[in-house]
Amino acid sequence: MSVSGRHVIVTGGGSGVGAACARLLADEGAKVTILGRTEEKLAAQSLPYQVCDVTSIEAVAAAFAAARAESGPIDVVIANAGAAASVPFAKMTPADLQAMLAVNLMGVSNVWQAALPDMKANGWGRMIAVASTAGLRGYPYVSAYCAAKHAVVGLTRALGRELARTGITVNAICPGFVETPLLERSIDTITAKTGLSRAAAEDTLKADNPQGRFIQPCEVAASALWLCSEGAKSVNGHALSLSGGEL
Ligand SMILES: NC(=O)c1ccc[n+]([C@@H]2O[C@H](COP(=O)([O-])OP(=O)(O)OC[C@H]3O[C@@H](n4cnc5c(N)ncnc54)[C@H](OP(=O)(O)O)[C@@H]3O)[C@@H](O)[C@H]2O)c1
Repeated sequence: MSVSGRHVIVTGGGSGVGAACARLLADEGAKVTILGRTEEKLAAQSLPYQVCDVTSIEAVAAAFAAARAESGPIDVVIANAGAAASVPFAKMTPADLQAMLAVNLMGVSNVWQAALPDMKANGWGRMIAVASTAGLRGYPYVSAYCAAKHAVVGLTRALGRELARTGITVNAICPGFVETPLLERSIDTITAKTGLSRAAAEDTLKADNPQGRFIQPCEVAASALWLCSEGAKSVNGHALSLSGGEL
């Protein structure tokens, strides 16, 4: 693959999918910088990091400047930081919706925009968002999350066309349920709100995937690595479903 020597930024790299992407790309020879809000989680990954809330454009600018000073111009951004809050639509507040848009949509736009000058100057770049199957279909009780992830897919499709002649590709990876701390918190919420056992809650979620299982973070990382390769240079503005056939 072709990430060796590339400077890769992974947001939300301190846990779950982001940590798996960071580890795989570092193992493939990339210079990886991980971003997140919690220093202990970042430090535990033994990779260069910047503490950064991706919802803040100023914080992103500062983190990218520091990362650039340490490891050079940015070649790849994996915009993975995200959160999934659940609430029935009737009870959803404007603040709930804003919070989901802030991290899941603005958090992607902010980091892609920050990396764009480096990628344009190099005539090569990879912008990758970790969206979700919730960017391609609806699920109950997560309307704000679904709205934000659909918006990321829209951003991906539009930007892919806008940058098509620059050597930069823009793609979204859309996994179904992935076994990570985020999924653990979702299962906690389901058991607390419904009284279902943990096993029953897990089975309910696994039933969405025709393969009847949770996806592993390393599977998302493998797709991100492939999207960075020269062999994937025609894949652009695409939303890649990793869902066992759900979509
Ligand atoms: N797990 C699933 O079932 C699933 C399915 C489809 C898509 N996804 C997507 O996959 C991505 C990764 O999630 P995950 O499952 O790996 O969950 P996770 O382990 O909770 O990872 C999310 C990461 O994002 C970071 N983060 C959250 N808000 C942030 C902010 N404002 N600024 C910077 N970093 C922030 C978190 O670290 P800090 O809190 O320390 O900042 C955390 O490391 C998300 O975009 C999620 O929507 C997950």
